[in-house]
Amino acid sequence: MGETEKLTEAGAWLNQIHPYERWIESLNVPIYRGYYMEDLGSLKLGRWEDRECHAAFLQLAGQEGVSAIYLTEVPAGKTLRPFRMAIDELVYVIQGAGLTTIWSGERPKRVFEWQKHSFFLLPANYTYELGNMRGSEPARLLHCSGLPTAMAAIPDPAFYFQSTAVDLSVLYGTDEEQHYSKLQVIKDTGHKTPRDVWIGNFFSDMLSWYRLEALKARGAGGHIVWISFPRSLHVSHMSVFPSGTYKKAHRHGPGVVVIVLAGEGYSIMWPEQGADKVVIPWHEGSVFVPPNNWWHQHFNPGRAPARYLALHAPTGMPTGNAYFTNSKGEKLTVAPEDDPANQIEYPDEDPWIRKKFEEELAKSGLKSLMPDEAYGDRDFKWRYSEDKNAS
Ligand SMILES: [Fe+2]
Repeated sequence: MGETEKLTEAGAWLNQIHPYERWIESLNVPIYRGYYMEDLGSLKLGRWEDRECHAAFLQLAGQEGVSAIYLTEVPAGKTLRPFRMAIDELVYVIQGAGLTTIWSGERPKRVFEWQKHSFFLLPANYTYELGNMRGSEPARLLHCSGLPTAMAAIPDPAFYFQSTAVDLSVLYGTDEEQHYSKLQVIKDTGHKTPRDVWIGNFFSDMLSWYRLEALKARGAGGHIVWISFPRSLHVSHMSVFPSGTYKKAHRHGPGVVVIVLAGEGYSIMWPEQGADKVVIPWHEGSVFVPPNNWWHQHFNPGRAPARYLALHAPTGMPTGNAYFTNSKGEKLTVAPEDDPANQIEYPDEDPWIRKKFEEELAKSGLKSLMPDEAYGDRDFKWRYSEDKNAS
């Protein structure tokens, strides 16, 4: 190799194109960039030859080499060709209804049905087929994984699409506890406030979940449920908060993908005090990813409860809402949400925040349901209807 070639080859690495970015650019499908995408259902897709389907990738501020997001479409009445990837992937159904057939090698195939608002795990290296059960409309799926993180260590795409190492217990575990569709709930006591965690691989309708747990620390009378997958490092949570309220601003690491499932409102993100603020209008099918350590705050000036799903990056990434322990259960890191420095209490917020919220409500003839005391008392405790019922 001559000196020029050597320099050129070195330059290919010195120019610091992320291996994941290099890979998605090589696919020749649309890549959408920005702070947010307001409507995943209407984004134009392009042909992904290897998968023989239409797809698009998202590279939003906040993914930051941590999270992968892409969309696939299954045409009406069709089934996509079998596919597998060497790391776990989460899938949320944006529109349509269909079937996933999933298996490993010569082992039996398992099938589950999904519909709009279903959420499920495609475990590492299981072969799967996505089929559309409807003859009249395409199905559109959002896929999310930690592929950029993985590719930062092993950049060769072939490693992820030609590997066969598989944990057979995910689908073929013998005891009932390991059944793919089984759901259970546990109480995680490792945080300041113990939290309910739902554990499963397939959730048929994220809108049908109710009786979520009060999340008092974040204000707005909001509720939450945490979601964990039995053999996976992925964790997610879903939040619901009422019309006429907004949550407290908070911050954490990158890679937490927020998908709006229901409601109409907006979020605001900004890097530090005094910086310009990014306003993100949202409704069902919007997505955004708060950038690393940016403050972000969610507002519901609509007439219905707002509901969003947050797909966290795999455990091991310093992305927030996670803490790591050693095998004795001793904490190695502090969960960002347990540190008061990562939340802005209502009395401390920029007065523009409240003013804008009231202006947005007024456009629809609505009034804020934020209690006045919340702005005067840093320790104000939101009153929940379930508290009243309990007393
Ligand atoms: Fe957040």
